[in-house]
Amino acid sequence: MAALKYAGLEDTDSEEELPPGWEERTTKDGWVYYANHLEEKTQWEHPKSGKRKRVAGDLPYGWEQETDENGQVYFVDHINKRTTYLDPRLAFTVEDNPAKPTTRQKYDGNTTAMEILQGRDLSGKVVIVTGANSGIGFETAKSLALHGACVILACRSLARGNEAVQRILGEWHKAKVEAMTLDLASLQSVQNFAEAFKSKNLPLHILICNAAVFAAPWSLTEDGLESTFQVNHLGHFYLVQLLEDVLRQSSPARVVMVSSESHRFSEIKDSSGKLDFSLLSPSKKEYWAMLAYNRSKLCNILFSNELNRRLSPHGVTSNSVHPGNMIYSSLHRNWWVYTLLFTLVRPFTKSMGLCCYGINFVGDLFLGFLSVFLWLLTLELR
Ligand SMILES: NC(=O)c1ccc[n+]([C@@H]2O[C@H](COP(=O)([O-])OP(=O)(O)OC[C@H]3O[C@@H](n4cnc5c(N)ncnc54)[C@H](OP(=O)(O)O)[C@@H]3O)[C@@H](O)[C@H]2O)c1
Repeated sequence: MAALKYAGLEDTDSEEELPPGWEERTTKDGWVYYANHLEEKTQWEHPKSGKRKRVAGDLPYGWEQETDENGQVYFVDHINKRTTYLDPRLAFTVEDNPAKPTTRQKYDGNTTAMEILQGRDLSGKVVIVTGANSGIGFETAKSLALHGACVILACRSLARGNEAVQRILGEWHKAKVEAMTLDLASLQSVQNFAEAFKSKNLPLHILICNAAVFAAPWSLTEDGLESTFQVNHLGHFYLVQLLEDVLRQSSPARVVMVSSESHRFSEIKDSSGKLDFSLLSPSKKEYWAMLAYNRSKLCNILFSNELNRRLSPHGVTSNSVHPGNMIYSSLHRNWWVYTLLFTLVRPFTKSMGLCCYGINFVGDLFLGFLSVFLWLLTLELR
């Protein structure tokens, strides 16, 4: 009893508890009704609270709703191979009062990607995740695939992509996952990827632009542009242009740009306030790896906002997201100093298994200081 109390589950005579002889059921379209077996009658109102309710959300993954020969709704749990008349969503009902929902799912910095998707059936949804062979992209692709989505891992190395596919299949052999080649540092490769995807005649419900390089030494791509700018922004920009028609045809659809809080420490305008193209793809002399990354992340956000403005009337939304700071992925690999910093703060920041949409204070603070320091240093050097 004491344990129940501390768990917030005190043994009370809750007003939600049904009197003996009553049963809670749902209609085909999710309305909750109450059957009184003693008096053989049904009613919409809860016999104690008088509230009307309906179930919230979709059925959990693997469940299906059927109707028996008497018109009674029942539920099949294909994963555990069982059948029940009890709607599994009855634990998550909302009052029949749209202005005042009684349940609210809360997420924070400790919520995992799997928890975010819990209870969601994504079968029938097609998702592309760029840079899905490692880090945040891999966790995202895995979580979506384990909830039934068909996920395409768009990776610059097909071997690493296939290895990631095998890791997901190792968790659930029925996952619909496939690796395809996409090198964002080559506009030709982006075009080839888009064509290969379109030749599959699949819809596209979610496009997650996640791939990025960080702190990379200066180099030009085969298209003659600075690599960080092309990989992080322009390659994705081109990809979205090429897949826009499929996204529109698949609406409701969405684009997610994985950006970063560090976009705040950047500038892409010249002294007269106009966009300075030379800052976007700078020469070797003008190049500062951290600033190039920050600028590319600012481009992600500006692009996402404009994309949303243009496409949301057509059922395609776009959002940019900051996944949290200094998450120990492979992002730091280009410079040992970053590897050291990421390692030092690792115990205090989010792990790869955690969802990317919360706040991790130590990482934010650390990267904030670092970015301000580098920003001031750059101003000083100019
Ligand atoms: N980790 C953090 O603390 C943090 C913080 C803020 C924002 N982010 C953002 O989160 C996203 C994911 O980063 P992460 O931390 O998961 O890093 P990560 O583990 O290094 O993943 C980056 C992915 O991008 C891929 N990639 C690199 N160059 C590519 C190219 N030319 N074409 C296609 N794919 C390419 C990499 O593939 P290879 O393995 O083949 O190189 C890798 O799969 C990035 O957009 C990053 O800016 C991360």
